[in-house]
Amino acid sequence: MSDRRPPAPETDLSVRLGPVELAHPLVDASGTLDVLEYARRYDGDYLADFPYAAYVPKTVTADPRTGNPPPRVTETPSGVINAIGLENPGVHAWIAQLGEWAALRAPVLVSVGGNSPEQYAAVISALEAHLAAAPPGTVPDVRGYELNVSCPNVVGGLQIGADPTATAEVVGACRAATARFLLTKLTPNVRDVTEAGAAALGAGADGLSLVNTFKAMVLDRDTLRPFLGNRTGGLCGPAIKPIALRMVAEVARAFPDTPLVGMGGVMTGLDALEFIACGATAVAVGAANFTSFEAPQRILAELRDEVAARGFGTVGEARGIALRA
Ligand SMILES: Cc1cc2nc3c(=O)[nH]c(=O)nc-3n(C[C@H](O)[C@H](O)[C@H](O)COP(=O)(O)O)c2cc1C
Repeated sequence: MSDRRPPAPETDLSVRLGPVELAHPLVDASGTLDVLEYARRYDGDYLADFPYAAYVPKTVTADPRTGNPPPRVTETPSGVINAIGLENPGVHAWIAQLGEWAALRAPVLVSVGGNSPEQYAAVISALEAHLAAAPPGTVPDVRGYELNVSCPNVVGGLQIGADPTATAEVVGACRAATARFLLTKLTPNVRDVTEAGAAALGAGADGLSLVNTFKAMVLDRDTLRPFLGNRTGGLCGPAIKPIALRMVAEVARAFPDTPLVGMGGVMTGLDALEFIACGATAVAVGAANFTSFEAPQRILAELRDEVAARGFGTVGEARGIALRA
């Protein structure tokens, strides 16, 4: 992209994801950017300079989880496979460290996981109670939730997202626990991704995000045994982008006015624009965060270039172009 013309700052990249105003369409994909770890590595005020338009933290569950046995991550020829297994300190310890990143200058969409509707709702209720009681300035700007019903690496994760009835039960319980913006993150490991999408929206979700990782396997090439400690993992990165684009387009067609966060293999600004053309409102960047600390700024500059080079006044003008007859 370096041979392209310089970024055109006048191009309006702002989008509305439901009630959440975003300065531009790019957010991080859950589990791929730890804001506190990045702040420690940054030479300056990372929380003030946060490059994404919203922050989606790693999925938090009601109880602490240690995750899966190692090895848990490895590269493949065109993607990353992981089986972290939702390692997290549990919602109460997670809430206790919220003050450390209260100064983050971006809205936050909290990713929530669990094995039952009650567990999901318990995370949201605990956080809602904390937010209601917290003095101003001591908590980040939590605007909503992303229900991760689609982790392929934990018992219960993928099963919920692959079952529309179970998905609706989780969403319904969470809807009762919060008035904030509610996204449901869909699994691609199904025959028809719109079925769980319909169930989630019918149960009160405000929007959908997709895709989570594809259940996959890599072998240790010496032993010919599964490489990951969990035997299987979830594949993401460039390998999945064409499938993710197809699924985002299917969901956008099925639910035209629904806020959508598209993701899967976004490494460049043009990749992000492709998701918008398939109907995404916002675009999440995952594996690219592991390639370089500056990846979000580069992808954003490229997106700005791509929008301007095509003569769009706003990024919204590109939305849904690939869906037209
Ligand atoms: C190391 C790693 C950890 C992840 N952890 C989570 C998680 O905690 N919750 C979740 O919803 N998705 C998680 N994901 C999936 C990403 O959010 C995203 O859906 C997926 O990686 C596809 O995007 P990408 O191809 O840009 O990476 C994780 C992905 C990776 C690579």
